[in-house]
Amino acid sequence: MKALITAGGRGTRLRPITHTNNKHLIPIANKPMIHYAIEAVIDAGIKDIGIVINPDTGEEIKEALGNGERWGASFTYIIQEAPIGLAHVVKVSQDFIKDEPFVFYLGDNVIVGGIKRFLEEFKKSGNNCHLVLAKVKDPQRFGVPEIKDGRIVRVEEKPKVPKSDFAVTGIYFYDHHIFEAVNNIKPSWRGELEISDAHQYLIDKGYKIGFSEITGWWKDTGKPEDLLEANRLVLEQIINSKESKIKGEVDKDSEIIGKVIIEEGAKILKSSILGPVIIGENTIIENSYIGPFTSIYYDCHIKNSEIQYSIIMEKSKIIDIETRIEKSILGKSVQLMKGDSRPRTYCFILGDKGSIKLI
Ligand code: TTP
Repeated sequence: MKALITAGGRGTRLRPITHTNNKHLIPIANKPMIHYAIEAVIDAGIKDIGIVINPDTGEEIKEALGNGERWGASFTYIIQEAPIGLAHVVKVSQDFIKDEPFVFYLGDNVIVGGIKRFLEEFKKSGNNCHLVLAKVKDPQRFGVPEIKDGRIVRVEEKPKVPKSDFAVTGIYFYDHHIFEAVNNIKPSWRGELEISDAHQYLIDKGYKIGFSEITGWWKDTGKPEDLLEANRLVLEQIINSKESKIKGEVDKDSEIIGKVIIEEGAKILKSSILGPVIIGENTIIENSYIGPFTSIYYDCHIKNSEIQYSIIMEKSKIIDIETRIEKSILGKSVQLMKGDSRPRTYCFILGDKGSIKLI
């Protein structure tokens, strides 16, 4: 059994963060998003992992993840020349997978509870293709299966009238027949080889397509609000499984309430922290309030400010901001400060697609 994890794509919905960062390295609860996929696959006992990258953003991924040794696994990097569809990702990975069954895991999907159960159900079922489904409120946004007698008989991409309230998540199990499908389907109207078309091909040819249902939560982190939700859910999970873990320093004038993780070298001075919250290494929080569902990565400085339900990436500074910051995502080395010169003006240096709401 092998695994294929995606780390390419365009990440347009997460701009401007993805102008300078590969989406899969955005931290969720202070851990690069793709680590969740890698750890789920390894936890299911799969060590031979192909990671699919695009030429423009792939080097960053290789540098960040290395050869897999850190996880006791072996990574093979597979180049997809351009992000032209998930079925195309599978197609370019044929030499790596060969004839083995494999799990195809989209590196921007985060789930709780791992994939062991799904892998066992796939093996037991004898299915050629086994999809992991999740019940959602808005199936119109996803690939939606039509199910009859426990089998998937059709998959429609973003249907106006969904045939079930399931979404096909980004976790798929295949045997080698998937290559027959991806080598025979044609590009869609948007010029991509669509994975739903590959699934439909398998159904039309009479191959067996079954499914497992995720009963915990699953998040496809395509949009900024999904990142904040995934961050909230992972923080809740970590925090439920552990007592507060305070390795950094908390002075006597600070108050820590609820489950909080404070990493090595971090300093909490004259501040209130209301968990679940994670504070990264060497970050300084001074005279501030950090509220629930906030992740602040390493080497940040927060002073005289209030933040909650937000993701702050490494080396950012938030100083003297009077209004509480909420539902915000700050990239690396962002500086938000109040100046003291007159006249009082706003001074912005914002990249393409930056977004600021002032009240
Ligand atoms: P998507 O979220 O469908 O696409 P995207 O990441 O390019 O983002 P956006 O729609 O905002 O532009 O991709 C799902 C996963 O598959 C993600 O891990 C990126 C990856 N991917 C590839 O590696 N190659 C591809 O050709 C495509 C379409 C996606």
